[in-house]
Amino acid sequence: MKAGLLLLVIAGVMVAQNLPDVLKQGESVFNKTCATGYCHGARGAAGGAPRIAARGFDQSFINNTVQRGVPSTAMPAFGTALSRADLTAVVAYVASLNGVASPTIVANRGGPPSPPVTRLTGDAARGRDLFSDAVRSFGRCSTCHEIGGIGIPVAITIAKVPADPAALKALATPQVSTATVGSDSMPALMLGKKSNAVIFYDLTTAPPVLRTESPSAVQTSDGSNWRHARVIGSYTDAELSAILSYLRTVVKP
Ligand code: HEC
Repeated sequence: MKAGLLLLVIAGVMVAQNLPDVLKQGESVFNKTCATGYCHGARGAAGGAPRIAARGFDQSFINNTVQRGVPSTAMPAFGTALSRADLTAVVAYVASLNGVASPTIVANRGGPPSPPVTRLTGDAARGRDLFSDAVRSFGRCSTCHEIGGIGIPVAITIAKVPADPAALKALATPQVSTATVGSDSMPALMLGKKSNAVIFYDLTTAPPVLRTESPSAVQTSDGSNWRHARVIGSYTDAELSAILSYLRTVVKP
C-alpha cells in the first residue's frame, strides 16, 4: 500500500512538471493504440467505437475505463498492456480531450483493490455472469452496481444482501428521493448540491439519466416509490436467487 502511494505521488509530480510533454506522448500513444480506424477516431472523434472527446468524462472514470476496459464490449483493458509511462500519458491525453483542467494523473495500474479471486461454482458462478449479462440490456444489475471492477459508474455499493428475490424486489431504497422539476416528478439519486447546480440520476428509466438542474428549478423530498421490481423484470426468480448466491460470496458484511 505504501509503495503504491509513493508511486501515485511520483506519477503526480511527473505529470505536474511536464504536462505538455506528457500530453504529446499521450497523443502519440492514442494515435497508435486507440485511433486505429477500427476503434476511436483521431483526437477522440467517433470511429468504429464511440466518440470520447468532450463527453464530460471525469478523471477517475477515464482511469478505470482505460485500465480495465469495458466488459462485454470491444474495449480492451490497457492496464498491463501499456508501459506505466504510456498509460499515464494516454489517460492524461483523454482527460485533456474532456476538458479536465489539470489532468494530474494517478496511474494506479490495478485500479481500486478488487475482491480476492474466489473460484465460484454452481449457482454463484451463474449469478456472477447474470449480474452483468449483456442480453438483459440496461436491466442488468451492473447498470447501477459495480462489483470487482465490473459495472458502470452509477455504482451503488452493495453492503447487505437480501434474503431472497422477493426481498430484493421490495427492498427499501432510502437513498432514493423524489425530485420535482416543473410538473415532472421522478425518483432521484442525488449526487451533489452546489449553489449553482443540483446533480442527480433520474431513475425513471434504466440506465438512469444524469441530470444537472439549477437549484431553483428542482424541489426534492425524501423517499420515493422506486423499487428494484421496476428494472429487474428480465430475470426469473431462479436467476435472481443465483445472483444473490453470488453476492453472498463477494459481499462481506
Ligand atoms: C436502475 C438502477 C439499478 C439496477 C439495474 C439495479 N439496482 Fe440495486 N440498487 C439501486 C439503487 C438506487 C439502490 C439504492 C437504494 C437505497 O439504498 O436507497 C440499490 C440497492 C441495492 C441493494 C441494497 C444495497 C445495500 O447494501 O443497502 C442490493 C442488494 C441491490 N441493489 C441489488 C441489485 C441486484 C441483485 C440487481 C440486479 C438483479 C440490481 N440491484 C439492479 C439501483 C439499481
